[in-house]
Amino acid sequence: MAMRNFIKGTRPELTADCLPPQLDLARLPEHVAIIMDGNGRWAARRSLPRVAGHRAGAAAVRRTVEAAARLGIGCLTLYAFSTENWKRPRAEVDALMRLLKEFLGKELRNLQKNNIRFQVLGRCERLEPKLLEEIRRAEQATSGNTGLVLSIAVNYGGRTEIVDACRRIAREVAEGRLSPSEIEDRHISDNLYTSSLPDPDLLIRTSGEMRLSNFLIWQIAYAEIHVTPTCWPDFGERDLHEAVLDYQNRDRRFGGLNQAREVTSVQ
Ligand code: FPP
Repeated sequence: MAMRNFIKGTRPELTADCLPPQLDLARLPEHVAIIMDGNGRWAARRSLPRVAGHRAGAAAVRRTVEAAARLGIGCLTLYAFSTENWKRPRAEVDALMRLLKEFLGKELRNLQKNNIRFQVLGRCERLEPKLLEEIRRAEQATSGNTGLVLSIAVNYGGRTEIVDACRRIAREVAEGRLSPSEIEDRHISDNLYTSSLPDPDLLIRTSGEMRLSNFLIWQIAYAEIHVTPTCWPDFGERDLHEAVLDYQNRDRRFGGLNQAREVTSVQ
């Protein structure tokens, strides 16, 4: 299994031949989120059924988790199944759920061994009870791990997440524990599924589409976006490094000015 190369509890050594020399390990994005797109196109180009694309996509998940842990990324969040994906044919939905279950079954030991904390983001109630049980078991078993935080978004929708947060906040208001005028950004953030995570610094989308597809729409307000033409099943360590390099070349101002370059020339 791909993750066997992790070094337990620490960051495995990166060798010069697998790391671009320009990549600055002191300026890594803390949280990388990925829209894993293009499984269907990858399969169609090979005259394979869509499910073969998803299966190859699951292998890319393993590779990418390994690459992110090896690089020293703090949090990796992967978009595996959206609230809209239920509209796909039943056989495809079932296959995606099976792949997720298979991933948990096969990878739990590796997640543990490599100090990775696992969690699922989304409305989990609609998932099949056996899958939900596996998810909760993996979350519980890895809850004390202190390495990479791997979040997989399943039955996830950004708008649904905000609706759920609003309901929780409205309950606090109705119970008199919060007044409407006290509501700030942090109340929304604290009630999202991602409340324990920092906002993503880098959002990667594979297979070239320039869309957010309802993914982490609150959290990515200031994320850098990297779109690669590579279809998800072909994504690997080199693509992750390329995305991080692209991120490191951006000038992040969060609505302010670049201190070194612009502050002296305002007037
Ligand atoms: C988008 O490609 C991808 C998905 C809807 C599913 C992502 C699922 C996996 C990568 C595999 C299982 C996940 C885990 C965590 C083991 P698409 O089918 O929309 O591609 P297309 O746009 O080319 O048709």
